Amino acid sequence: MPKTALIIGASRGLGLGLAKQLASEGWQVIATVRDPQRADELKTIAGVRIDALDINDGDCVEALAQRLSGTMLDLLFINAGISGSRQLSAINATAEDVSKLFMTNAVAPVRLAKHMLPLVDPQTGVITFMSSIMGSVETGPGMGMPLYGASKAALNHLTRSFVAELGEGTSLTVLSMHPGWVRTDMGGEEAPLDIETSCRGMVEQVKRAAGQGGHRFIDYQGEQLPW
Ligand SMILES: NC(=O)c1ccc[n+]([C@@H]2O[C@H](COP(=O)([O-])OP(=O)(O)OC[C@H]3O[C@@H](n4cnc5c(N)ncnc54)[C@H](OP(=O)(O)O)[C@@H]3O)[C@@H](O)[C@H]2O)c1
Repeated sequence: MPKTALIIGASRGLGLGLAKQLASEGWQVIATVRDPQRADELKTIAGVRIDALDINDGDCVEALAQRLSGTMLDLLFINAGISGSRQLSAINATAEDVSKLFMTNAVAPVRLAKHMLPLVDPQTGVITFMSSIMGSVETGPGMGMPLYGASKAALNHLTRSFVAELGEGTSLTVLSMHPGWVRTDMGGEEAPLDIETSCRGMVEQVKRAAGQGGHRFIDYQGEQLPW
C-alpha cells in the first residue's frame, strides 16, 4: 500500500522538492500552497493532490483537517516558512516584522500539527517540522539572521512542548529538520546544496525515523544537531 504524505508549503523551493522526491518514490502526496494559481510546477507532478492553505489562517487549517478526515498520514511535513529581511534583529525589527516571523515560523506550524495529529499514524507516522541550524541556541548565534534564528529556536521549543504533551500510547516520531544550506529563493544562489540532494536526504531520514518514536533535531544527512 502506498504511503501518504501531507506537505505544507509546496509551491516552490524545498516543499516542491519534497513533493517531487516523495512522488518519485511512489508516495501519495497531498501538497498545500497559498495560491493554487501559482503552482504550475507542482501541477506537473503525477500523483500529487493540491490543496490551498495559508498556515497563519486558523479557519483554513481547521477546514483542511476536516477535508482530510479519514485519511491516514504516514508523514506530515511542515515546511512553510519565511526569513524576513536578512538584517532583521531585536534592535531594528518592527512589531509587525516580529509578529509575522514568529507566527509563520514558530506558532502556526505547531498549531497546525495539533489540528492534524489525529490524522497521523500513531505507530509509524512521522511529523517533521522544518527548522534550521540557525535555530540552535548553541551554534546559531553569529551565523547571521538573528531574528529568523530566534523564530526557529522558538519553533524547536514549541515542538518540544508539543512532544511532551503527546503522552503515552503513541510511538509516532517527531523530527526538527535542518535541510542544509540550500539554493532556493530563501537560501540564495551562493548556497552549496541543490534542492534534489537536500530533499533526497530528508526523505531518507524520514523513512529511517518511522517507528522509532521520540523527537530529534537532525539535518538532511541524519547528523544530530545541538539544541
Ligand atoms: N533554503 C535554506 O537554505 C534553508 C535552510 C534552513 C531552513 N530552511 C527552511 O526551509 C523551509 C523552506 O525554505 P525554502 O528555502 O524552500 O524557502 P522558499 O523558497 O522561500 O519557500 C518558502 C515556502 O514557504 C511557503 N510559505 C511562506 N509563508 C507561508 C504561509 N503563510 N502559509 C503557507 N505557506 C507559506 C511559500 O509559499 P509562497 O510561494 O506562497 O510564498 C513557499 O512555498 C523554510 O521553513 C525555511 O525556513 C531553508
